[in-house]
Amino acid sequence: MSVREAVAVAHPNVALSKYWGKREGPGNYPAVPSLSVTLSGMTTRTRVRWRDDLPGDRVVLDGRELCAQQGWRALALVDRVRRELGVGAHAEVESRNDFPTASGLASSASGFAALALAAVASCSEAWDAARVSDLARVASASAARSLFGGFVELDAGPPSPRGGEVLAARPVAPPEHLPLVVLVCVTTEGPKAVGSTDGMRATLARSPYARAWLEYAPRAHAELRRALLARDFEAVGELAEASALAMHASAIAGGLVYWTGATVEALAAVRAVRAGGTPAFATVDAGPHVKVLVRPQDAAGVRVTMGGVPGVLRVIEAPPGAGARVERAQRADAREAS
Ligand code: DP6
Repeated sequence: MSVREAVAVAHPNVALSKYWGKREGPGNYPAVPSLSVTLSGMTTRTRVRWRDDLPGDRVVLDGRELCAQQGWRALALVDRVRRELGVGAHAEVESRNDFPTASGLASSASGFAALALAAVASCSEAWDAARVSDLARVASASAARSLFGGFVELDAGPPSPRGGEVLAARPVAPPEHLPLVVLVCVTTEGPKAVGSTDGMRATLARSPYARAWLEYAPRAHAELRRALLARDFEAVGELAEASALAMHASAIAGGLVYWTGATVEALAAVRAVRAGGTPAFATVDAGPHVKVLVRPQDAAGVRVTMGGVPGVLRVIEAPPGAGARVERAQRADAREAS
Protein backbone atom coordinates (compact mmCIF):
# COMPACT_ATOMS: atom_id res chain seq x y z
CA MET A 1 0.00 0.00 0.00
CA SER A 2 1.30 3.46 -0.81
CA VAL A 3 2.05 5.82 2.06
CA ARG A 4 1.19 9.43 1.58
CA GLU A 5 1.13 11.39 4.74
CA ALA A 6 2.24 14.79 5.99
CA VAL A 7 2.05 16.80 9.19
CA ALA A 8 2.08 20.59 9.04
CA VAL A 9 1.89 23.25 11.73
CA ALA A 10 0.57 26.79 11.40
CA HIS A 11 -0.14 29.71 13.68
CA PRO A 12 -3.07 32.11 13.81
CA ASN A 13 -2.69 35.65 12.60
CA VAL A 14 -4.37 38.81 13.75
CA ALA A 15 -5.35 41.35 11.14
CA LEU A 16 -4.16 44.88 11.81
CA SER A 17 -6.08 46.08 8.77
CA LYS A 18 -9.21 43.92 8.65
CA TYR A 19 -10.72 41.81 5.90
CA TRP A 20 -14.50 42.04 6.28
CA GLY A 21 -16.64 41.51 3.18
CA LYS A 22 -16.33 39.36 0.07
CA ARG A 23 -16.59 39.95 -3.64
CA GLU A 24 -19.82 38.72 -5.13
CA GLY A 25 -19.29 35.55 -7.14
CA PRO A 26 -17.49 32.26 -6.62
CA GLY A 27 -14.07 31.60 -5.11
CA ASN A 28 -14.06 33.43 -1.75
CA TYR A 29 -12.30 36.63 -2.79
CA PRO A 30 -12.03 39.44 -0.20
CA ALA A 31 -13.62 42.77 -1.10
CA VAL A 32 -10.90 44.71 0.75
CA PRO A 33 -7.16 44.27 1.28
CA SER A 34 -5.87 43.19 4.69
CA LEU A 35 -2.60 43.13 6.59
CA SER A 36 -1.90 40.84 9.49
CA VAL A 37 0.78 39.68 11.85
CA THR A 38 1.31 35.96 12.23
CA LEU A 39 1.56 35.00 15.89
CA SER A 40 3.69 32.53 17.74
CA GLY A 41 2.48 30.95 20.96
CA MET A 42 -0.66 29.31 19.52
CA THR A 43 -0.44 26.36 17.17
CA THR A 44 -2.56 24.17 14.94
CA ARG A 45 -1.03 20.82 14.01
CA THR A 46 -2.68 18.91 11.15
CA ARG A 47 -2.00 15.50 9.70
CA VAL A 48 -3.28 14.44 6.29
CA ARG A 49 -3.05 10.79 5.41
CA TRP A 50 -4.31 9.34 2.12
CA ARG A 51 -5.74 5.85 2.59
CA ASP A 52 -6.88 3.34 0.00
CA ASP A 53 -9.06 1.56 2.54
CA LEU A 54 -11.36 4.46 3.50
CA PRO A 55 -14.87 4.69 2.06
CA GLY A 56 -14.73 8.52 2.09
CA ASP A 57 -12.77 11.49 3.39
CA ARG A 58 -12.73 12.05 7.17
CA VAL A 59 -12.04 15.17 9.18
CA VAL A 60 -11.33 14.97 12.91
CA LEU A 61 -10.92 18.25 14.77
CA ASP A 62 -9.66 18.24 18.36
CA GLY A 63 -10.61 14.56 18.63
CA ARG A 64 -14.17 14.94 17.28
CA GLU A 65 -15.17 13.73 13.85
CA LEU A 66 -16.93 16.44 11.84
CA CYS A 67 -20.03 15.69 9.78
CA ALA A 68 -20.07 16.75 6.12
CA GLN A 69 -21.92 19.94 6.98
CA GLN A 70 -19.39 20.99 9.63
CA GLY A 71 -16.35 19.94 7.63
CA TRP A 72 -17.36 21.05 4.13
CA ARG A 73 -14.53 23.53 3.62
CA ALA A 74 -11.89 21.01 4.63
CA LEU A 75 -13.55 18.36 2.46
CA ALA A 76 -13.62 20.73 -0.52
CA LEU A 77 -9.96 21.54 0.01
CA VAL A 78 -8.79 17.92 0.08
CA ASP A 79 -11.02 17.13 -2.89
CA ARG A 80 -9.33 19.87 -4.91
CA VAL A 81 -5.88 18.55 -3.94
CA ARG A 82 -6.96 15.03 -4.91
CA ARG A 83 -8.13 16.21 -8.34
CA GLU A 84 -5.22 18.55 -9.07
CA LEU A 85 -2.52 16.16 -7.85
CA GLY A 86 -4.07 12.97 -9.19
CA VAL A 87 -4.47 11.07 -5.91
CA GLY A 88 -6.64 7.96 -6.02
CA ALA A 89 -7.41 7.59 -2.31
CA HIS A 90 -9.43 9.16 0.47
CA ALA A 91 -8.01 11.57 2.99
CA GLU A 92 -7.98 11.23 6.73
CA VAL A 93 -7.49 14.66 8.29
CA GLU A 94 -6.66 15.06 11.96
CA SER A 95 -6.22 18.54 13.36
CA ARG A 96 -5.56 19.89 16.83
CA ASN A 97 -5.45 23.42 18.20
CA ASP A 98 -3.73 24.27 21.46
CA PHE A 99 -6.19 27.19 21.92
CA PRO A 100 -10.02 27.55 21.80
CA THR A 101 -11.45 26.51 18.44
CA ALA A 102 -13.90 28.68 16.46
CA SER A 103 -14.27 31.34 19.12
CA GLY A 104 -12.80 34.27 17.21
CA LEU A 105 -9.20 33.34 17.99
CA ALA A 106 -8.53 32.78 14.30
CA SER A 107 -8.47 28.99 14.49
CA SER A 108 -9.78 28.86 10.93
CA ALA A 109 -6.73 30.80 9.72
CA SER A 110 -4.18 28.46 11.28
CA GLY A 111 -6.41 25.44 10.64
CA PHE A 112 -6.79 25.89 6.90
CA ALA A 113 -3.18 27.02 6.48
CA ALA A 114 -1.97 23.83 8.18
CA LEU A 115 -4.47 21.71 6.25
CA ALA A 116 -3.55 23.18 2.85
CA LEU A 117 0.14 22.69 3.51
CA ALA A 118 -0.21 19.14 4.86
CA ALA A 119 -2.55 18.10 2.03
CA VAL A 120 -0.18 19.38 -0.64
CA ALA A 121 3.03 18.21 1.08
CA SER A 122 1.64 14.69 1.39
CA CYS A 123 1.38 14.48 -2.41
CA SER A 124 3.84 16.83 -4.03
CA GLU A 125 6.84 19.09 -3.61
CA ALA A 126 5.95 21.04 -6.72
CA TRP A 127 3.63 23.72 -5.31
CA ASP A 128 5.19 26.98 -4.17
CA ALA A 129 4.00 28.86 -1.08
CA ALA A 130 1.82 31.23 -3.14
CA ARG A 131 -0.10 28.33 -4.63
CA VAL A 132 -0.65 26.79 -1.20
CA SER A 133 -1.74 30.21 0.13
CA ASP A 134 -4.29 30.50 -2.69
CA LEU A 135 -5.59 27.01 -1.86
CA ALA A 136 -6.00 28.00 1.80
CA ARG A 137 -7.69 31.30 0.82
CA VAL A 138 -10.53 29.53 -0.94
CA ALA A 139 -11.35 27.77 2.34
CA SER A 140 -10.91 30.86 4.53
CA ALA A 141 -9.33 34.06 3.26
CA SER A 142 -7.48 34.87 6.49
CA ALA A 143 -5.79 31.43 6.23
CA ALA A 144 -3.95 32.59 3.10
CA ARG A 145 -1.96 34.93 5.37
CA SER A 146 -0.98 32.27 7.96
CA LEU A 147 1.18 30.49 5.38
CA PHE A 148 3.72 33.26 5.88
CA GLY A 149 5.47 34.57 8.97
CA GLY A 150 5.76 38.13 10.25
CA PHE A 151 3.65 40.85 8.62
CA VAL A 152 1.58 39.60 5.71
CA GLU A 153 -0.72 41.20 3.18
CA LEU A 154 -3.63 39.90 1.13
CA ASP A 155 -5.02 42.00 -1.71
CA ALA A 156 -8.69 42.38 -2.49
CA GLY A 157 -9.94 40.00 -5.15
CA PRO A 158 -10.84 40.98 -8.73
CA PRO A 159 -14.06 43.05 -8.99
CA SER A 160 -16.05 40.26 -10.71
CA PRO A 161 -14.26 37.01 -9.98
CA ARG A 162 -14.96 33.98 -12.13
CA GLY A 163 -13.55 31.74 -9.41
CA GLY A 164 -10.24 30.49 -10.78
CA GLU A 165 -8.01 33.56 -10.43
CA VAL A 166 -5.01 32.97 -8.16
CA LEU A 167 -4.94 35.30 -5.16
CA ALA A 168 -2.24 34.56 -2.61
CA ALA A 169 -1.03 36.45 0.42
CA ARG A 170 2.53 37.76 0.46
CA PRO A 171 4.96 38.66 3.23
CA VAL A 172 5.51 42.40 3.77
CA ALA A 173 8.10 42.31 6.56
CA PRO A 174 9.74 39.67 8.77
CA PRO A 175 8.63 39.07 12.40
CA GLU A 176 11.44 41.20 13.88
CA HIS A 177 10.63 44.21 11.65
CA LEU A 178 8.49 45.89 14.32
CA PRO A 179 9.02 44.78 17.92
CA LEU A 180 5.62 44.14 19.44
CA VAL A 181 3.64 41.63 21.46
CA VAL A 182 -0.02 40.74 21.02
CA LEU A 183 -1.80 40.07 24.31
CA VAL A 184 -4.75 37.85 23.50
CA CYS A 185 -7.36 38.42 26.21
CA VAL A 186 -9.51 35.30 26.17
CA THR A 187 -13.07 36.06 27.29
CA THR A 188 -14.76 32.74 26.51
CA GLU A 189 -13.62 29.19 25.78
CA GLY A 190 -16.79 28.46 23.78
CA PRO A 191 -17.49 28.75 20.05
CA LYS A 192 -18.77 32.01 18.60
CA ALA A 193 -22.43 32.34 17.61
CA VAL A 194 -21.97 33.64 14.04
CA GLY A 195 -19.00 32.61 11.91
CA SER A 196 -17.09 35.19 9.87
CA THR A 197 -18.54 34.10 6.52
CA ASP A 198 -22.14 34.54 7.69
CA GLY A 199 -21.20 37.67 9.60
CA MET A 200 -19.74 39.31 6.51
CA ARG A 201 -22.76 38.35 4.45
CA ALA A 202 -25.12 39.78 7.08
CA THR A 203 -23.10 43.00 7.31
CA LEU A 204 -23.08 43.60 3.55
CA ALA A 205 -26.76 42.75 3.27
CA ARG A 206 -28.07 44.68 6.25
CA SER A 207 -25.69 47.34 7.50
CA PRO A 208 -26.33 50.94 6.44
CA TYR A 209 -22.57 51.44 6.91
CA ALA A 210 -21.40 48.54 4.75
CA ARG A 211 -20.55 50.77 1.79
CA ALA A 212 -18.72 53.22 4.04
CA TRP A 213 -16.59 50.35 5.37
CA LEU A 214 -15.75 49.10 1.86
CA GLU A 215 -14.63 52.61 0.88
CA TYR A 216 -12.67 53.25 4.07
CA ALA A 217 -10.85 49.92 4.37
CA PRO A 218 -8.45 50.23 1.38
CA ARG A 219 -7.40 53.75 2.42
CA ALA A 220 -6.81 52.71 6.02
CA HIS A 221 -4.92 49.67 4.78
CA ALA A 222 -2.54 51.77 2.67
CA GLU A 223 -1.88 54.08 5.63
CA LEU A 224 -1.24 51.18 7.96
CA ARG A 225 1.14 49.59 5.46
CA ARG A 226 3.12 52.84 5.27
CA ALA A 227 3.27 53.13 9.07
CA LEU A 228 4.45 49.53 9.32
CA LEU A 229 7.21 50.01 6.77
CA ALA A 230 8.27 53.16 8.67
CA ARG A 231 8.38 51.05 11.88
CA ASP A 232 6.05 53.52 13.58
CA PHE A 233 4.54 51.43 16.39
CA GLU A 234 2.09 54.08 17.60
CA ALA A 235 0.73 54.82 14.13
CA VAL A 236 0.36 51.09 13.43
CA GLY A 237 -1.48 50.65 16.74
CA GLU A 238 -3.81 53.61 16.20
CA LEU A 239 -4.67 52.52 12.66
CA ALA A 240 -5.18 48.89 13.74
CA GLU A 241 -7.58 49.94 16.48
CA ALA A 242 -9.43 52.24 14.05
CA SER A 243 -9.76 49.41 11.50
CA ALA A 244 -11.24 47.04 14.09
CA LEU A 245 -13.66 49.64 15.44
CA ALA A 246 -14.83 50.60 11.93
CA MET A 247 -15.35 46.95 11.02
CA HIS A 248 -17.37 46.32 14.17
CA ALA A 249 -19.33 49.57 13.80
CA SER A 250 -20.40 48.40 10.37
CA ALA A 251 -21.27 44.90 11.64
CA ILE A 252 -23.13 46.23 14.70
CA ALA A 253 -25.22 48.54 12.51
CA GLY A 254 -26.27 45.42 10.60
CA GLY A 255 -27.40 43.77 13.84
CA LEU A 256 -24.30 41.69 14.41
CA VAL A 257 -22.77 42.22 17.84
CA TYR A 258 -19.74 40.01 18.54
CA TRP A 259 -18.90 41.94 21.69
CA THR A 260 -19.83 40.99 25.22
CA GLY A 261 -19.52 42.98 28.42
CA ALA A 262 -15.98 41.68 28.81
CA THR A 263 -15.06 43.05 25.37
CA VAL A 264 -16.24 46.52 26.33
CA GLU A 265 -14.46 46.34 29.72
CA ALA A 266 -11.24 45.26 28.03
CA LEU A 267 -11.46 48.05 25.43
CA ALA A 268 -11.91 50.55 28.26
CA ALA A 269 -8.91 49.10 30.09
CA VAL A 270 -6.75 49.55 26.98
CA ARG A 271 -7.83 53.19 26.72
CA ALA A 272 -6.97 53.67 30.40
CA VAL A 273 -3.51 52.14 29.90
CA ARG A 274 -2.97 54.55 27.02
CA ALA A 275 -4.19 57.51 29.05
CA GLY A 276 -1.60 56.52 31.64
CA GLY A 277 1.16 57.01 29.06
CA THR A 278 1.79 53.45 27.84
CA PRO A 279 1.15 52.91 24.13
CA ALA A 280 -1.35 50.04 23.93
CA PHE A 281 -3.92 49.48 21.18
CA ALA A 282 -6.82 47.07 20.82
CA THR A 283 -8.15 44.97 18.00
CA VAL A 284 -11.13 42.60 17.94
CA ASP A 285 -12.02 39.93 15.37
CA ALA A 286 -15.27 38.06 14.80
CA GLY A 287 -15.64 37.15 18.45
CA PRO A 288 -15.58 38.72 21.91
CA HIS A 289 -11.82 38.52 22.62
CA VAL A 290 -9.71 41.65 22.72
CA LYS A 291 -6.15 41.53 21.39
CA VAL A 292 -3.85 44.22 22.69
CA LEU A 293 -0.81 45.45 20.77
CA VAL A 294 2.03 46.58 23.03
CA ARG A 295 5.77 47.10 22.83
CA PRO A 296 7.75 44.14 24.24
CA GLN A 297 8.99 46.21 27.21
CA ASP A 298 5.38 46.99 28.23
CA ALA A 299 4.00 43.47 27.74
CA ALA A 300 4.40 42.15 31.30
CA GLY A 301 2.76 45.17 32.96
CA VAL A 302 -0.14 45.44 30.51
CA ARG A 303 -0.67 41.69 30.76
CA VAL A 304 -1.23 41.99 34.51
CA THR A 305 -3.68 44.87 33.94
CA MET A 306 -5.64 42.97 31.27
CA GLY A 307 -5.69 39.80 33.38
CA GLY A 308 -7.53 41.79 36.08
CA VAL A 309 -10.31 43.00 33.77
CA PRO A 310 -13.69 41.47 34.76
CA GLY A 311 -14.57 38.75 32.25
CA VAL A 312 -11.03 38.19 30.97
CA LEU A 313 -10.32 34.52 31.69
CA ARG A 314 -6.65 34.45 30.73
CA VAL A 315 -4.14 36.33 28.65
CA ILE A 316 -1.94 34.67 26.03
CA GLU A 317 1.27 36.49 25.11
CA ALA A 318 2.00 36.14 21.40
CA PRO A 319 4.93 37.81 19.66
CA PRO A 320 5.13 37.82 15.85
CA GLY A 321 6.03 34.38 14.62
CA ALA A 322 6.86 32.14 11.71
CA GLY A 323 4.73 30.93 8.85
CA ALA A 324 3.35 27.44 8.36
CA ARG A 325 5.83 24.61 7.97
CA VAL A 326 5.88 20.93 7.14
CA GLU A 327 6.97 18.84 10.10
CA ARG A 328 7.02 15.51 8.35
CA ALA A 329 6.14 14.22 4.88
CA GLN A 330 6.15 10.74 3.43
CA ARG A 331 5.38 10.43 -0.23
CA ALA A 332 6.21 6.83 -1.13
CA ASP A 333 4.57 6.06 -4.44
CA ALA A 334 3.38 9.66 -4.84
CA ARG A 335 2.73 10.81 -8.38
CA GLU A 336 4.20 14.26 -8.80
CA ALA A 337 2.10 16.82 -10.59
CA SER A 338 2.41 20.55 -10.92
C1 DP6 B 1 -12.46 39.59 11.42
O1 DP6 B 1 -11.04 34.49 7.02
O2 DP6 B 1 -12.57 33.73 8.88
O3 DP6 B 1 -10.78 37.93 11.40
O4 DP6 B 1 -12.95 33.84 4.35
O5 DP6 B 1 -15.26 33.64 5.25
O6 DP6 B 1 -13.47 32.14 6.12
P1 DP6 B 1 -13.80 33.49 5.54
O7 DP6 B 1 -13.52 34.55 6.69
P2 DP6 B 1 -12.32 34.62 7.73
O8 DP6 B 1 -12.52 36.15 8.20
C2 DP6 B 1 -11.63 36.79 9.06
C3 DP6 B 1 -12.25 38.05 9.51
C4 DP6 B 1 -11.48 38.82 10.56
C5 DP6 B 1 -10.54 39.83 9.95
C6 DP6 B 1 -9.29 39.29 9.32
O9 DP6 B 1 -8.74 38.28 9.77
O10 DP6 B 1 -8.82 39.96 8.36
